[in-house]
Amino acid sequence: MKRFPFTSFPNGWFLVAYSDELPRRKVMPLYYFGQHLILFRTEDGKAQVFDAYCPHLGAHLGYGGCLEGNTIRCPFHGWAFNSQGECVDVPYASKIPQKAQLRSWPVCEINGLIMVYYHAQGEPPTWQIPALSKWNLKEWTPFKKITWKIRTHPQEIFENSVDMTHMLVLHGEAFSTVEDTSQKIDGVVLTELTHSKLFLFRKLGIELNSVVEASHCGLGYQFIQVHSTGIVEYEFILVSTITPIDEEYVDYRYLISSKKHSIPLLTRLLEMQAIAETCRASRKDVPIWENKVYKSQPLLSDGDGPIMQYRRWASQFYSEAPAMNTPSEKLSTTPEKLTVG
Ligand code: FES
Ligand SMILES: [Fe+2]
Repeated sequence: MKRFPFTSFPNGWFLVAYSDELPRRKVMPLYYFGQHLILFRTEDGKAQVFDAYCPHLGAHLGYGGCLEGNTIRCPFHGWAFNSQGECVDVPYASKIPQKAQLRSWPVCEINGLIMVYYHAQGEPPTWQIPALSKWNLKEWTPFKKITWKIRTHPQEIFENSVDMTHMLVLHGEAFSTVEDTSQKIDGVVLTELTHSKLFLFRKLGIELNSVVEASHCGLGYQFIQVHSTGIVEYEFILVSTITPIDEEYVDYRYLISSKKHSIPLLTRLLEMQAIAETCRASRKDVPIWENKVYKSQPLLSDGDGPIMQYRRWASQFYSEAPAMNTPSEKLSTTPEKLTVG
């Protein structure tokens, strides 16, 4: 049985690499969205993503392709392509074949992330990932990065954030209470605000009052701000991203940065604890995600979170509605506001 009803990957921005992995003139092979791609940085410093296979005889430009200024040259017979992907040189021919072109993907580099826009029909982006106001400031620690490869679909991972009951059942050791939660939808952005009691140092039973604001921008990017108060004050941000590798697997990454305390050791301790708790939560989620099916018509109780509202919001990122949806689940993309008590 096919586990998911989705007929394509969601449209939107997806992380493919970190900026610090890509110096000028470097060419990297990529495999995302079930396609072979290349990522490179031109002499001018621009990150670009092209289809990987040369239109001539099919060499993969990620293996031996080299940058000459802002053009990339194929290692096999030396054809060169400019930053729009057009062939601008065939070293041994007097005429360049008309259709000699590599597909260039929309790329944006923001907050140290290299993001690519995927659209099932190849349409250009209609929205952008917002810049983080707290990125790279001296008052905040540099991002710590964690990556997981998981056998699931992007929509499933983010559904977790609105599935409030699983927080207490599956992650109950981290949360003692979820006091209230509300969601706001505005176009491509879904924001949840949660007040909860969080065990930061679980074994010591130290409980902090936490306000968590999580904003999803599409199905590939989420930005979370956590502000905890109590015996100690702790503020951190967590960027979590999901990128489809193929129809079975995704790369799930998160980056954590903390607001520095005046005592550096305390900052380190709190951050290590936040990373440990985040990884512990993911270790619990992963076997569920990897083995569950997507129920198009789940049997929900009145205590469940706003799962169908999340799914209606998520539906705007597909060119076609999921194949298994029934007419009653035909999804509206109208912005809405909702509150769950
Ligand atoms: S395969 Fe690229 S130039 Fe021939
Ligand atoms: Fe979870």
